[in-house]
Amino acid sequence: MTHVVTARCIDCRYTDCVEACPVDCFWEIKDPHMLVIDPDTCIDCTLCVAECPIKAIWPEDDLPEEYADWTEKNAELFSDGENITEVDGPLPNAKDLDQIHAEEQAKGWEIDDPA
Ligand code: F3S
Repeated sequence: MTHVVTARCIDCRYTDCVEACPVDCFWEIKDPHMLVIDPDTCIDCTLCVAECPIKAIWPEDDLPEEYADWTEKNAELFSDGENITEVDGPLPNAKDLDQIHAEEQAKGWEIDDPA
């Protein structure tokens, strides 16, 4: 298994997750602008899940179906990015969790945040 960064991270990129990761498995990509996880490096420690202010990271086995395609996208996209090991702060227009929930609800999605 691995952990998976979902579309919630796009254009937010808080980077708090990076500091929690003991194996430096986060990579920053620019299109879309977000972080993704190298699934072969992730050790499923779960520490990053609680660190993300918008709850963008799920364990692969608990991914909501609306974000199911992000397992494959993390695996495909990380090698196009740059390994990131230090917190760099959010992007200028980063959304908060209430805004993320409102956007999802506008699509008819009812997603429980990762535990
Ligand atoms: Fe993205 Fe959350 Fe990390 S917004 S960069 S997964 S702290």
